Amino acid sequence: MKRVVLTQARIATMARGGPPYGLVADGAIAVEEGRIAWVGPRDALPGEWAAAERVSAGGRLATPALVDCHTHLVFGGERAREFEKRLQGASYEEIARAGGGIVSTVAATRAMGEEALAEAALPRLDALLAEGVTTVEVKSGYGLTVEDELKMLRAARRLEGLRRVRVRTSYLAAHAVPPEYRGRADAYIDEVVLPGMEAAHAAGLADAVDGFCEGIAFSPDQIARVFEKARALGLPVKLHAEQLSNLGGAALAARHGALSADHLEYLDEEGIAAMAGAGTVAVLLPGAFYTLREEKVPPVAGLRAAGVPMAVATDCNPGSSPLASLLLAMNMACTLFRLTPEEALAGATREAARALGLQAELGTIEVGKRAEIALWDVEHPAELSYRIGFNPLHGLFPGEPA
Ligand code: NIG
Ligand code: FE
Repeated sequence: MKRVVLTQARIATMARGGPPYGLVADGAIAVEEGRIAWVGPRDALPGEWAAAERVSAGGRLATPALVDCHTHLVFGGERAREFEKRLQGASYEEIARAGGGIVSTVAATRAMGEEALAEAALPRLDALLAEGVTTVEVKSGYGLTVEDELKMLRAARRLEGLRRVRVRTSYLAAHAVPPEYRGRADAYIDEVVLPGMEAAHAAGLADAVDGFCEGIAFSPDQIARVFEKARALGLPVKLHAEQLSNLGGAALAARHGALSADHLEYLDEEGIAAMAGAGTVAVLLPGAFYTLREEKVPPVAGLRAAGVPMAVATDCNPGSSPLASLLLAMNMACTLFRLTPEEALAGATREAARALGLQAELGTIEVGKRAEIALWDVEHPAELSYRIGFNPLHGLFPGEPA
């Protein structure tokens, strides 16, 4: 029975309802079999832990390990030429309608094998892990045939064998209409998205189902058909909603009990109320907002007032958010969206875990949860959001997976 105690830590437990950040100034964390068995002030550590192995945090800050709850980490190629075009004045939508954008990544992704796709994702994954991330959501959505979508999901699963990371997959065949189905989105849903979902589910490759509800992607009616199938299979849903316009996607997602609705720049009051009622997490993606030079910010004050949990993620992808730093996403969420640093850290821990349905296991330093703790060379937890392009991670505790 492996028992170990972390001592001399300043602990931001991120537990709800306590002091800011759930802060314990001079704390200890007792771990048994990879789970948190006790957490509190060091001088209150129960005597039963006296004989356990001890590791000193040396006064460092301990937080829950980070969770990146929205990424497109697996893909082929890159889109630097599209970046240049946008700088010359073309919009993301214009590029997409001209056959660039997501569809250009589809061609590059189809041309690669499962192993090569996983290898190509590793530098991006390593950048996230270097910042204390231990859980990453990875979407399909650049295959857009049954076989290529399954290949992407297998590549995502493969990452767990290559690195110390937990991967949660989302089946995102409803990301774009592929060229061979141009003008026939409904047929694409019937012939690819729905049968592919069944195959992904049968193979245990999909932890959730996602979609892109937008003028350049799928209508609410089309997404509803995708969600109905997902629910029939017992798969949780999430949605890229209200990114470039307001189609009522977030409310649709909430009606289907979605884990999260993501982006949300164009979210309105009705959408906020629907999300609040369903407990759907708002996943904010400031990297995409920044890259696309959006001007409309998500209604953070409204979300906050309604008590909608807010997560922050990188949206790491080759087009709208070539961002492989969750710390930078947290900084951007504060500076661009006016989250507080406490909300940003909660957004990359507690609420990110919730957006993946993992809130019972991860996201706070509380008894019963998995012991996945990040140690930082900072004085105060606000520093994690305050610095720009600086990584103060010291390491993970426990150092080895239990
Ligand atoms: O989350 N919004 C749609 N999907 C991605 C963009 C993917 C891409 O441009 O390749 C996003 O922003
Ligand atoms: Fe995305």
